[in-house]
Amino acid sequence: MINILTEEELANMRIACEITRDTLLEVEKHIKPGISTKDLDKVAYQYIISRGAKPGFLHYAGYPATICASIDDEIVHGIPSKERILEEGQIISIDVGAKYKGMNGDAARTFPVGKIDAKKKRLIDITEKSFFEGIKNIKSGSFVGDISNQIQTFVEKNGYSIVRELEGHGVGKHLHEDPEVPNFGHAGSGARLLAGMTIAIEPMVNMGKRFVTFMPDGWTCKTRDGEPASHYENTVLITQDGVEILTL
Ligand code: MF3
Ligand code: CO
Repeated sequence: MINILTEEELANMRIACEITRDTLLEVEKHIKPGISTKDLDKVAYQYIISRGAKPGFLHYAGYPATICASIDDEIVHGIPSKERILEEGQIISIDVGAKYKGMNGDAARTFPVGKIDAKKKRLIDITEKSFFEGIKNIKSGSFVGDISNQIQTFVEKNGYSIVRELEGHGVGKHLHEDPEVPNFGHAGSGARLLAGMTIAIEPMVNMGKRFVTFMPDGWTCKTRDGEPASHYENTVLITQDGVEILTL
């Protein structure tokens, strides 16, 4: 079942999403060579608490941290660690959620660590653009598959591949709700979107082949070929005549 938010839920959802967005901006300030992903996690935790919210990922399905921090060939769900120290030239995806009065925001960005090469820059850029391609012309009455197809077409046209094992999702009272929002598929397929639904759209884009491996920690998802990957995510509200991006 896909939930349609009440006025009150939507008001709290907007605040959860603003705090999520602001947390990413706060973490971004600390991304430089020499800092550990554990320290970035602490920044996010403190910030979310300071805004009167709670970390939405911490203890969710047993996840042990506030953020996911995924470096280079790690696609998503990298667990913060004091042993992981950022190095110049890496790219790092930070995924975070803030929960406010029972509602969840969910968003991710991929950041450069210091100076990065042009290939990685383009990967980040195309991943971000694929999100905006995905929401083009989407409104109440559109199908989830319209988003999926627009993302896949754009990414593959640009020479990259789409991860298929993980996907976007409905988000609201729970971090993961119906519908599933894959980043590949056919226009006109999947669930129909209606005004008042909130979904997380999150393209995961590999520079090389689409295949992934899951690490023994039970969370970290990496590219099988060791090539870098990028991730970009926003929580969006479906409206009568379009979408509103709540975490931008
Ligand atoms: N954006 C992530 C996702 O949808 C948030 C969940 S991470 C988890 O997969 F660790 F909390 F599960
Ligand atoms: Co998500």
